Amino acid sequence: MAVKKVAVIGAGVSGLASIKTCLEEGFEPVCFERDEKVGGVWVFRDEVRTNHEESALYHALVTNSSKEMMCYSDYPFPKDCPPYIPGKQLGKYYEDYAEHFGLLKHIRFSTKVLKLEEADDYDITGRWSVTTEGPGGESTDIFDAVMVCTGMFSQAKMPTYPGQDEFEGEILHSNDYRKADSYANKTVLVVGGSHSAGDVAVDTSRKSKKTYISMRNGTWVITRAGPMGWPRDLFLNRRFNFLLPEWYRRNIVEKDLATRFNVDNLGLRSTRKLFCSEVMVNDDIANRIFCGALTAKPGIKHFTQKGVVFTDGTKIDNLDSVIYATGYNIKVPFVGTHLISDKIDELQLYQYVFPAKQKHPTFACVGFVMTVGAHAPVFEIQARWATQVFKGNVSLPPVSGMLKDIEMKKKFLYQKFGKHIIFIPPIPYQDGIATKIGAKPTFKSLFLKDPILALKCFFGPAVPASYRLQGPHVWSGARDTIMNVWQNTVSGTKFRDTPIANGPEGYPVALKLIFLVCIVAGLYLAMV
Ligand SMILES: Cc1cc2nc3c(=O)[nH]c(=O)nc-3n(C[C@H](O)[C@H](O)[C@H](O)COP(=O)(O)OP(=O)(O)OC[C@H]3O[C@@H](n4cnc5c(N)ncnc54)[C@H](O)[C@@H]3O)c2cc1C
Ligand SMILES: *[C@@H]1O[C@H](CO)[C@@H](O)[C@H](O)[C@H]1NC(C)=O
Repeated sequence: MAVKKVAVIGAGVSGLASIKTCLEEGFEPVCFERDEKVGGVWVFRDEVRTNHEESALYHALVTNSSKEMMCYSDYPFPKDCPPYIPGKQLGKYYEDYAEHFGLLKHIRFSTKVLKLEEADDYDITGRWSVTTEGPGGESTDIFDAVMVCTGMFSQAKMPTYPGQDEFEGEILHSNDYRKADSYANKTVLVVGGSHSAGDVAVDTSRKSKKTYISMRNGTWVITRAGPMGWPRDLFLNRRFNFLLPEWYRRNIVEKDLATRFNVDNLGLRSTRKLFCSEVMVNDDIANRIFCGALTAKPGIKHFTQKGVVFTDGTKIDNLDSVIYATGYNIKVPFVGTHLISDKIDELQLYQYVFPAKQKHPTFACVGFVMTVGAHAPVFEIQARWATQVFKGNVSLPPVSGMLKDIEMKKKFLYQKFGKHIIFIPPIPYQDGIATKIGAKPTFKSLFLKDPILALKCFFGPAVPASYRLQGPHVWSGARDTIMNVWQNTVSGTKFRDTPIANGPEGYPVALKLIFLVCIVAGLYLAMV
């Protein structure tokens, strides 16, 4: 049956991209958003909602990927916007996007989805029944397809340690943390080794008497500035990089990081290799440790009435607050676990989008993957694929093939990280999805048409606009955006003239020569 009416659930980064792609395909999207605003996690609020169902951000948050990598493929950030954007300013970008593409009139605000299930005639039609509660009361509607865009950061994960109940201080999750003000002269322990843990620890350390950060396995601290002071993700996220062996890539990044700080002296060293563990994007943690405001400790063994004892036997007495920055669980309460399991190891989403066992490909999840990089372009390409599948332009493999693919990926990630986790490099994943819809820049034909652009796409930062050069709904601004990545980055930082303003080189000359030879050889072989 031809898809026309599509329910989009959630109007965050994923939901907005989904509404837009539905419109591009000529569908009639109806988006349900329980909040009064678009933007999802990027809507800042002061109050803490105690139901632990909604994600919220701390005020000190600054994005961990740069604006050229983090934008949607056909909607760059304003030129004068800094390369790393304070979280509080980011909401405006999503509001502008919704406004620019006329998405708002398709959104029903203050409307919560209570239940999503197969319609009575699902077996024949593949349709879905969506029950919502909004300003006009409860209602149920039937849709030809659905896109679930409610995010992976909705249910705070809280560990428990022995003795925790007897602890007399405050315990909260980073999701409920807003500002450091109330931690003046307090002793604070932040638990976790990832982005939020680092941010919250640095933030409280500016006000507290003393802040500690407890990490079981240490962490890899990644600075926003990379080689030659340019945003690091403009170097990491290049198509060419992913043809290099992982040990080589790891080596380059580790060498660069080693020039920035000494992780052993700071007590931060990770027990796992880079790219096989979670990371912490943070520019300040080393300085906070250097000046004694912050100290890294091992994992917690147990709580006492007034503090904690760590696994190495050391302890803190007179601890006022413990902040768990320990991540989130997947939870989509309105839908059956046969579609979206709340156990990460049981999640059966083909390419993190389509439940493998559905009879009709009319149900898609957008935003259910974690990548080591910016999320918006990943979710956007998922949405573009999902709508192409709904439309019937692209089909899914047989169920057995999808299940095999899912199991293979799970096993690979488990072996790599030593736990069940969805954490993948964004560029190969985006390229893989883009290939399915014909939106991946094909190097050979691009090289013959526009060699400089082709080289930029392949060797340069794989910015989202590179998925708008071909395939469905190309964008005329894509070429300029790709060509001007370095200038656009500088336009957000440089407001005083200085003599030198060249883009960085990036790869060693010898390496470039080798690849030039390879390209020429490749082209020659392709033509004979
Ligand atoms: C601390 C933190 C820092 C981050 N930093 C970055 C960063 O720097 N860069 C980056 O790329 N990513 C970052 N992320 C990841 C970020 O969450 C994603 O980039 C992205 O914003 C997620 O978008 P989403 O639309 O999938 O989910 P969300 O933003 O969570 O949006 C989901 C929407 O669905 C709505 N909803 C949920 N349930 C229902 C229901 N039953 N009915 C109706 N509506 C519902 C919610 O109200 C919400 O608006 C960060 C996340 C966290 C938690
Ligand atoms: C940015 O933070 C989010 C949420 O914590 C994470 O999923 C993502 O991988 C981070 N990006 C980078 C480049 O580390």
